[in-house]
Amino acid sequence: MIRRRARDNRVVTSSPDDHGFPAGFFERTDESTDHEFYGPDRFVTHIDDRAIAAVGALYEHLEVSGRVLDLMSSWVSHFRTPPAELSVLGMNERELAANEAATSRLVHDLNADPRLPYADRRFDAATCCVSVDYLTQPIEVFREVGRVLVDNGLFVCTFSNRCFPTKAIHGWLASDDRGHGAIVAEYFRRSGGWTDPLVALCTPPGTPGDPLYAVWATRQPV
Ligand SMILES: C[S@@+](CC[C@H](N)C(=O)[O-])C[C@H]1O[C@@H](n2cnc3c(N)ncnc32)[C@H](O)[C@@H]1O
Repeated sequence: MIRRRARDNRVVTSSPDDHGFPAGFFERTDESTDHEFYGPDRFVTHIDDRAIAAVGALYEHLEVSGRVLDLMSSWVSHFRTPPAELSVLGMNERELAANEAATSRLVHDLNADPRLPYADRRFDAATCCVSVDYLTQPIEVFREVGRVLVDNGLFVCTFSNRCFPTKAIHGWLASDDRGHGAIVAEYFRRSGGWTDPLVALCTPPGTPGDPLYAVWATRQPV
């Protein structure tokens, strides 16, 4: 445990579980259980149509197919062509039930338990759309994604500049778009076992609408 004094004179601590990120990085304004926040149905889209189209185009470009795990999922997974098998994991049972592309569904709180209840090498690829900012133990989750992927399996995280601010981690809220790309790239690096992550802006720069950023890497063969 490392102790230091914050500017307001509070003593703040960072533990080895912070994986080198600053103290308080993974704290949130709303620390109530995620089941409370995500219990009510939200049959909405969290980014605009252009950004959604950019997610689908990226998945097609990167050839995300086969047996795919969509982490932190909801009623839409944004594939142009749904993969042969799509396992969706999220917090709201009714939203997941309405996901027409899904072939299996699981309600599982990754902040309560970052372990993924799937066998080693179960999936060919994994996705996480506009949700990585809500993970309080992302290094553990990224390690688990690596475990459940086949060798050279791809993990694609996409995000925009919108979020539920009370549920996003403070480190995310304190960073800009460029910083967010760097944070997700660090999640890949610090969890280990991935190729060097690539960061991209997938919507035209400087144009109106929600920007869509992506960070992806593939699991290195063990
Ligand atoms: C902004 S929505 C994005 C939903 C979907 N991925 C999309 O592209 O529309 C955030 C999603 O993260 C999921 N989520 C939030 N906290 C979670 C947690 N602790 N464990 C698993 N899923 C979580 C919620 O169920 C919610 O569907």
